[in-house]
Amino acid sequence: MSDNNIQIFDTTLRDGEQVPGCKLNTEQKVIIAKQLDILGVDVIEAGFPVSSPGDFKSVQAISKIVKNATVCGLTRAVENDIKVAAEALQYATKPRIHTGIGTSDSHIIHKFKSNRETIIERAFAAVKYAKSFVEDVEFYAEDAGRTENEYLARVCEAAIRAGATVLNIPDTTGYCLPSEYGAKIKYLKENVKGIDKAILSCHCHNDLGLATANSIEGVINGARQIECTINGIGERAGNTALEEVVMVLKQHPYLNLDTKINTSMLYGMSQLVSDSMGIYTQPNKAIVGANAFAHSSGIHQDGVIKNRETYEIINPKDVGVTESAIVLTARSGRAALAYRAKNVGYELTKLQLDDVYANFLSFADRKKEINDGDIHQIIETSNVYR
Ligand code: KIV
Ligand code: ZN
Repeated sequence: MSDNNIQIFDTTLRDGEQVPGCKLNTEQKVIIAKQLDILGVDVIEAGFPVSSPGDFKSVQAISKIVKNATVCGLTRAVENDIKVAAEALQYATKPRIHTGIGTSDSHIIHKFKSNRETIIERAFAAVKYAKSFVEDVEFYAEDAGRTENEYLARVCEAAIRAGATVLNIPDTTGYCLPSEYGAKIKYLKENVKGIDKAILSCHCHNDLGLATANSIEGVINGARQIECTINGIGERAGNTALEEVVMVLKQHPYLNLDTKINTSMLYGMSQLVSDSMGIYTQPNKAIVGANAFAHSSGIHQDGVIKNRETYEIINPKDVGVTESAIVLTARSGRAALAYRAKNVGYELTKLQLDDVYANFLSFADRKKEINDGDIHQIIETSNVYR
């Protein structure tokens, strides 16, 4: 693996599936996992095996069918969780156990009613125990975003001593600013003893709409794995969106950070997850929203018709969208009308266009969006065609 390769850890089926009311059955999870494998993700977090018999069954089924990616199961720093995860992962070609514990004072004092030293001991013991089942163990420091850096470094050192290969630094509550999250990763990279034995991973939540920005700051500052979900789904405001981080890195090649993702599958993947979960994707969602490549104002349409790159930084084909859409509304100009008219078979002269445009505007004031059928009607009922 090159030092510039960013591992994509997909947690759609674990953290993503924690969206209220969006449970997937095993068959649906297996279909999504197969597609994620073809998409080129490095790790598929298939579930939290101890949480329910259904989740155990799903992790086991996914372990059997995934060919390329590592298959991962989540656990708490609890022996039984780890034992059950190891059992669910036994058929995986590349199994990973993802274990960990809360490290912020809020978690230590209120959730565990414990103290910092005991948490370090529990982190060490959990990783050590997971290592007795699999080689690849990832440790998470829950609420690392609000954990003081010096203490977090000590927890990470204990996890590395116990054999962790990946250190996950979650901004569990989506609280950090990008500069703060980037500085945290830099601090750990520079201060954790033994850090050359493990990679740092970004796991950011989107409570302030900063998950993508924070993950990108994380990799710029030395992390080498991003944990994300398709469409950014997840609890509360969701997780980092896979399609967003992948396209940020692709569109900024000077960062010299690559992923193995086949980006032309992104739109299809988004549709599959949204349909399976019954979660509608907002139209203005970056990369995969219905309007991500749609232009409706006259000035923008004129620019895009002359040269797509005037208002598009991504070629829609690169993410699996056939072409940009020129949407006809009352805000559209003559250029857009002529373009759409040509697409449905009318080559209008300048004079004809002036006449048809006047008819179009009165039609568009009555109807929000003009479709191909409307275009025929508008043209055929214009003076030039009577
Ligand atoms: O957000 C979080 O802290 C998590 C961990 C359990 C990895 O999802
Ligand atoms: Zn999370």
